[in-house]
Amino acid sequence: MSYNARLYDFLTSRFYDKQMDLELVHEGRRRVVSAVNIDSGTRVLEVGCGTGLNQPMLIKALGKTGQIVAIDASIEMLRKARLRAEEHGYADRVKFIHGDARQLDSLLKDAGEDEKFDTLFLTLILTVVPNWRRVFELAYAHLKIGGRCGIMDSYWTKSSLTHWLVRTLYAADSKRPTFMPLQGIAADYQIELLPPKNSFFFVASGTKR
Ligand SMILES: C[S@@+](CC[C@H](N)C(=O)[O-])C[C@H]1O[C@@H](n2cnc3c(N)ncnc32)[C@H](O)[C@@H]1O
Repeated sequence: MSYNARLYDFLTSRFYDKQMDLELVHEGRRRVVSAVNIDSGTRVLEVGCGTGLNQPMLIKALGKTGQIVAIDASIEMLRKARLRAEEHGYADRVKFIHGDARQLDSLLKDAGEDEKFDTLFLTLILTVVPNWRRVFELAYAHLKIGGRCGIMDSYWTKSSLTHWLVRTLYAADSKRPTFMPLQGIAADYQIELLPPKNSFFFVASGTKR
């Protein structure tokens, strides 16, 4: 098991949900769901889904029949995401896959998910996962042409105590420009900064050409 997966196994039972659904982060989640304009009845791929904090909003946008395929390397994060899905009554609409996003192709193949997705959703994962540019490429390849990609993450280039804490507690490297690969290839690329002044988070979206 990777260092990240072990760290998240430990974190989740303690304080992940309290920290990662604070007002500003929640606002980022709300904005990225809105930015990808999900059509009801479609399929969303969520890589690094964590405890599933986005999923109630995604399910609402997906209407009565849409589905989510959600991948994470941490068993504990997935366990909590499953519990949330059961509590909210949408467990039959989410396929949870345990595994490393760097092996995304084989994880999806083994799960029988051969069709491309309508929406790709990546929140607070590209700053964490090793080899993030490759993980983005792998995930983007599973998006349909005309499909929408949404990314919400931290981006902060100055070294500071906060940066050190985020790196130590969440293994997240906020200095990675994780919006850039999408900016380079998507049509109607857009980025919003949160908060507008002294931004720490961004929400980026675009359509696959
Ligand atoms: C900061 S959390 C973000 C979770 C969720 N997307 C959210 O917005 O709350 C990062 C997640 O990435 C997962 N992760 C880290 N490395 C991974 C990898 N190589 N493959 C898949 N998931 C990974 C962790 O287990 C953790 O759940």
